[in-house]
Amino acid sequence: MEYELSKEPLLTASQIEERVQQLGLEISSQFQVDLVIGVLTGSFIFVADLVRCLPNTIQVRFIKASSYGCSQQSSGSVKISSLEELDLKNKKVLVIDDILDTGRTLSCLLEQVRLAGANIVKSAVLLDKPSRREVSIEADFVGFSIENHFVVGYGLDYAEGYRSLPAIYKMSIPSP
Ligand code: IMP
Ligand code: MG
Repeated sequence: MEYELSKEPLLTASQIEERVQQLGLEISSQFQVDLVIGVLTGSFIFVADLVRCLPNTIQVRFIKASSYGCSQQSSGSVKISSLEELDLKNKKVLVIDDILDTGRTLSCLLEQVRLAGANIVKSAVLLDKPSRREVSIEADFVGFSIENHFVVGYGLDYAEGYRSLPAIYKMSIPSP
């Protein structure tokens, strides 16, 4: 059975633009960011828009995080690449991901950033699906809290497609 894109966006490009600008103000008022770490690939558009709403002295780096399933631990683990290349000592770091789902990726990543010596570590996600959480974690800055839909667009993919859509759409299975 094929997945189908919703006809209307769940979040329009202008809703996203407005919220990203608000997030930039919220973040800047609470926290002086030295370094943004974007989680590839899903966050690339969100990071590009959000950093343009933050002071221009911030540094921007990307890392790749991939779920490793439960290779050794029952809590599940996440493979994170390129983090060791970053100098995080005494930095104020904002980790940015596209969506907080089970919470595994972000909780693992935040722990590793802290272990690498960052001074302050905060997180921002464009979307939050609280009903899907398996690990107890909340992001410091959330764009939109959504129901348990699978969504694509504005960086988020289905099978690596749909990332370039300017708005966010639900992917649904058509009724038979
Ligand atoms: P978590 O570790 O389960 O919180 O996984 C978060 C990651 O799962 C995100 O960075 C996305 O790459 C992916 N993901 C979760 N929900 C969706 C969705 O609705 N659409 C696209 N990707 C998703
Ligand atoms: Mg991702």
